[in-house]
Amino acid sequence: MAADSKLQTAPIENQQHHGDSVFPYVVKSPVPEAGFDQVLPWVAEHRDELLQLSTIHGAILFRDMPIPSIEAFDAFIEALSMPNFPYLESLSNAVRVNHTERVFTANEAPPDVQILFHHEMAQTPLFPGRILFYCEVAADEGGATPICRSDVLYERLKASCPQFIKACETKGLTYTNVMPDADDPGSGMGRSWSSTLGANSRQQAESQLHQLGYSWEWLGDGCLKMTTPPLPAVMQATRQRKTFFNQIIAAYFGWKDDRNDPSQAIRHADGSKIDAEGAQQAMRIAEELEYAVPWQPGDVVLIDNTMVMHGRHSFQGTRKVYASLADKRTQSFSSSSLG
Ligand code: FE2
Repeated sequence: MAADSKLQTAPIENQQHHGDSVFPYVVKSPVPEAGFDQVLPWVAEHRDELLQLSTIHGAILFRDMPIPSIEAFDAFIEALSMPNFPYLESLSNAVRVNHTERVFTANEAPPDVQILFHHEMAQTPLFPGRILFYCEVAADEGGATPICRSDVLYERLKASCPQFIKACETKGLTYTNVMPDADDPGSGMGRSWSSTLGANSRQQAESQLHQLGYSWEWLGDGCLKMTTPPLPAVMQATRQRKTFFNQIIAAYFGWKDDRNDPSQAIRHADGSKIDAEGAQQAMRIAEELEYAVPWQPGDVVLIDNTMVMHGRHSFQGTRKVYASLADKRTQSFSSSSLG
């Protein structure tokens, strides 16, 4: 497989069409029998084109590429030369285990837990511009990664719930999360406060929170309750596209464990409640727009996190899907635009 071999695409079952774009875009190896050592220079050669395609279409599924291991996945990302956003530096509330510097388990939540649609880390001031998933072992049953075009969701919501979208755009959001004293792998949001904030003491945690603009409260059982600064609910992702870039679906319907009550997890930045009907519509339309990535071992998916939401279906058996974050970005919401 020569580095200058052309990029080849192919349709896939249930592929969606939105305007001029398809979802997901599928990239296949131009030479199926090529070895992994031939893939890397090819990826490096096509890097700009691939990143552009991921932004135009929202997601790329790399199929039939010889990517045999986590280390190979790491090298694949390296070949795309995207700046790494280490899990340790993120404010993600999921428990994860690093395997290489760039690659970690997607989420350690138990198999029966469904992870609802979200933009990675839209509930924090720091988020990855792009994320990648790699499948080493596909589950016996279930375990697909549902993905959804957030720009299409925004347009559909604007038409069906204009007041809700107006409130989202003018009032922004704050998220409240109670974090445990020690990692709780039984919860999809069980990362301890010390791990989340990279802090060895309460004092360090407070200094980090202060810097990030959070408010906080220590609870009697060693847990930390923290509330974000105001964050946007809608992003101008490109000149033409706005996206429903927030964590309303996951927080409103899913942030539930021994410590967290979803009804307390999210508010508009002026303290008002989220419109329940709007949140329900968002969930319903996102499910309608879902494409469930049917994992095969060796698959890689590259997602533009500003354009596309993802989740995880529940599963049975062993499932090994790994993730990597790239291109750290920041977001803030200006209170002057509060309506
Ligand atoms: Fe995620």
